[in-house]
Amino acid sequence: MNQHTVDYQTRGENTIMTVENEHATLAISLFGGHIVSFIPKHDNRERLWLSDTAAFDGKTPIRGGIPICWPWFGLVSAPFLDLDKTPSHGVVRNCPWQLKSIGDSENGTRLVLTPSLESAFTANVSLTVELIVVVNKQLSVTLETTNNGDATAYFAALHTYFAINNINNVELLGVDCNYQDKLDNDIIKPSESPYRFNGETDRIHIGTTMDHIDIRDAFVTRVHSAGYDSVVVWNPWIDKSANMADMSEGAYESMLCVETARTQSNVLARDETHAITQVIE
Ligand code: BG6
Repeated sequence: MNQHTVDYQTRGENTIMTVENEHATLAISLFGGHIVSFIPKHDNRERLWLSDTAAFDGKTPIRGGIPICWPWFGLVSAPFLDLDKTPSHGVVRNCPWQLKSIGDSENGTRLVLTPSLESAFTANVSLTVELIVVVNKQLSVTLETTNNGDATAYFAALHTYFAINNINNVELLGVDCNYQDKLDNDIIKPSESPYRFNGETDRIHIGTTMDHIDIRDAFVTRVHSAGYDSVVVWNPWIDKSANMADMSEGAYESMLCVETARTQSNVLARDETHAITQVIE
C-alpha cells in the first residue's frame, strides 16, 4: 500500500501542506483549502498553473491552483444570504481550513478538509462543506455540501487553473454544451468546434454531457467531472490580466480555467448532501 509523507512550509502568511506518495506530489494551502500544485510521478508534469505574482498574504484568494467557489459563484450571492460583504466566488477561498483526516488505501492518499467559517456566515446559513482530495496517479477533488436546515439554494465551483504551454495553440475537446457569454450580456451561444482561443473568454457552458474534457496543447490534460450542471471556461487575455494585481504580463498565455461547477439554481433540501467532483489525469 501507498504510504504518504506530509511536510508543512510557510509561504508568506500561508501554511502550505505538501503530501507525497508513490504516485504523486500535492501541495495545498490551508488558507482557502486551496490546492496549488499536483505533479504525478509517472510524467513529472505540473498540472496546475500558479501565478508568479499570486498573493500569499493570508487574506487574498490565491491566483491559480484550484480555488473553491462556495456557496456562490462570481458576485451573485444566493438570496438567502444577509452578509455585509459578498466577496467574489463566496467565502471559503479566503478563510482558514483544517485537515480533518488523512489516510492511505489502495486508492491513494485521501484527505478531508473543512473551512473555519465566520460566525456571521454560520449564523445565517445552514450549509456546511467538506473538501475530499484523493492523491493517486490522478488527482480527485470533491466538494461536498450538506444542508442542515430549511431548503436552501447554493452554487459551487472547482475553479481549476490548468497549466498549458501556450493558449494560442490550445484546443478544448468535449465541451459541447451551449454557453452563456458573460462578456456579451449573458447571451446563450452554441459551443465552438474546434474550440480554440484568440481573446478574452468567460463562458458558462450549461449542461451535463461534459464528463470528459481534453485540454489539448503540446500535451493532453484530461479532466473528468461529476455532479456538475455547468463547466466554466475562462481566460482573461491581455487587457484584463494587465489590470489584475496578481497576474504578470503574458501570464494569461500559460493558463486556462476549466471549472466544474454548479452555477444554476440548486436547492438542497434539509439533510441533503450534494457533491461535485473533478478528476485530473
Ligand atoms: C471566472 C468568472 O470563473 O472567474 C470570471 O467566470 C472571473 O468572470 C474569474 O473574472 C476570476 O474571478 P476572480 O474573483 O478570481 O478574479
